[in-house]
Amino acid sequence: ISLKRGGGGCLKNARFWGDVAKDFFWKTKHTGQFLDYNFDVTKGEIFVKCMEGASTNISYNLLDRNVHERKLGDKVAFYWEGNEPGDELTVTYRELLQRVCQFANVLKSQGVKKGDRVSIYMPMVVELVVAMLACARIGAVHSIVRRSLPSSLFLPLIRSDGFYRGDKLINLKLLADEALQKCRDKGFPIEKCIMLKHLSKEAEETSLGSQSPPAKRSCPDLQVPWNPEVDLCWHALVRGASDECEPEWCGSEDPLFILYTSGSTGKPKGVLHTVSGYMLYTAATFKLVFDYQLDDVYWCTADIGWITGHSYITYGPLANGATSVLFEGLPTYPDVSRMWEIVDKYHVTKFYTAPTAIRLLMKYGSEPVQKYKRESLKVLGTVGEPINPEAWQWYYNVVGERRCPIVDTFWQTETGGHVLTPLPAATPMKPGSATFPFFGVVPAILNESGEELEGPSEGYLVFKQPWPGVMRTVYGNHQRFETTYFKKFPGYYVTGDGCRRDKDGYYWITGRIDDMLNVSGHLLSTAEVESALVEHEAVAEAAVVGRPHPVKGESLYCFVTLADGVTYNRTLEAELKKQVREKIGAIATPDYIQNAPALPKTRSGKIMRRVLRKIACDERDLGDISTLADSSVVEQLFQNRCCTAV
Ligand code: WTA
Repeated sequence: ISLKRGGGGCLKNARFWGDVAKDFFWKTKHTGQFLDYNFDVTKGEIFVKCMEGASTNISYNLLDRNVHERKLGDKVAFYWEGNEPGDELTVTYRELLQRVCQFANVLKSQGVKKGDRVSIYMPMVVELVVAMLACARIGAVHSIVRRSLPSSLFLPLIRSDGFYRGDKLINLKLLADEALQKCRDKGFPIEKCIMLKHLSKEAEETSLGSQSPPAKRSCPDLQVPWNPEVDLCWHALVRGASDECEPEWCGSEDPLFILYTSGSTGKPKGVLHTVSGYMLYTAATFKLVFDYQLDDVYWCTADIGWITGHSYITYGPLANGATSVLFEGLPTYPDVSRMWEIVDKYHVTKFYTAPTAIRLLMKYGSEPVQKYKRESLKVLGTVGEPINPEAWQWYYNVVGERRCPIVDTFWQTETGGHVLTPLPAATPMKPGSATFPFFGVVPAILNESGEELEGPSEGYLVFKQPWPGVMRTVYGNHQRFETTYFKKFPGYYVTGDGCRRDKDGYYWITGRIDDMLNVSGHLLSTAEVESALVEHEAVAEAAVVGRPHPVKGESLYCFVTLADGVTYNRTLEAELKKQVREKIGAIATPDYIQNAPALPKTRSGKIMRRVLRKIACDERDLGDISTLADSSVVEQLFQNRCCTAV
């Protein structure tokens, strides 16, 4: 590794990434500069280009290269573990390549061409990865949907009948039909829908699940209306398709996928990533941040519909020829030991999850963890939000038994891959800090007037230069891209996160800037208050938002989810107030505390603080809440609002 962390001029950067690029197959070489860009709105249009002029295919690099050049054809690509224990199957690199080619041929036969957008709405099954890579193979742009379909979509839609999440049946087909109707109403007809029967009878015979005992998975009661004019059956189409498919050679800057991310306010943004830079970046970060070795079994618990799943279930691991676990279910089903049972079953060595999952499991104590050995574990990762030191300690002490380094990876849908992160066993850890920038990433901390702060300081986290995997535009709206990320501080990419740098140069994410509270002129990070609340043994999870206050500007409205078996009462309320006051200071004393049996979360587990702010103010106009995993939580919280300060 020849590049200094947090540094590197353009030349060194190009040399570092040029070395990474040597591992991959290029149909033609790049011509211009390795990484060309403009990050300054005052100097013209914002752009980033990596390896312009080169052509390649990402599915070729993930599959054919591993099967043919690296002789990894018989290596397991995925251990699929279904929602029901015992429902499982194994897919090798060779099989995955065949399936991808077959489905790529299916897409072609349906008229999908290079540059077309394909929307995918499927549960966590291997066919989801197949669908993504089949798009990539023919140069089509995939857009995985989590809840609602953006109306700017798309030629075909690939979806599934349904799936079980724990013991709850989710009928994806019906949800998708509703969304499709909305698209039609808005004048965006979807031409074709390919449907994967995952739960119904045919799934047994033809799907990748042929080795698994599908009885537990099938669901005779699932009602799936069928419209022969639009609906096509995955299995029937694949049955007749050839398993050879010449890849479409794509330009480096051709689009690879669009992923919609809910802006903290307003309409979701279609974050667009392109082929070569994203490939290099996810491959290199996966390899170094998880210290990937060929015999590792890696497990990322994220949903593939989230960027974490795109980068660190599909693209990064497969680019390295890694073996991964792909899990359909929940950490609490059939019981709260499920994660550790899976770790032992597959001898998982590298494990990657989110703080919210850690806090959820922490509620049940260490016994369900210690029922399993977890001897195989070597590195533990976390992503998605600042991890509070208590959760960090529990993860480190209980799950990893003090022998596994924790990689707290800070990044965003927009960054494509990790940007601030420790390297395991090489970076001395500090619980709650994402530590230092990845190679070639140059962060800075700015104050309100846009001045760079030196040494220990706190302010806006920005980046001064691009790295190969950074997003290229907001799909269909380049202006929104420039306004959202580059307008506030010309010359910098603005993350929207607050950040503190300590005397040792460690970076600490303090939460979204829009989650910063200003109480009587003091800036407070919601994460800090939440962390103080969660330190109380009665509290499992906390979310804090600002509520307008006539004198202080903002007051603190706290939602707390209690640990199992604890009941809420005035004494506990007083203890919580005291706890926060002692940890942070009188200024942070909560004004309102609401007992919240559950919090509104996105499917990726992120707490929707925007919704909580509305609840705190009793404002019923919630805006777009289509990304919420369970919207009934919201009504419940409205009913039990706190009206008087504690
Ligand atoms: C937050 C997820 C603190 C942050 C990959 C960021 C984090 C947003 C961390 C992006 C972390 C993610 N520590 N905060 N390790 N990781 N975040 O787009 O606020 O779903 O801006 O991407 O999550 O969320 P996104």
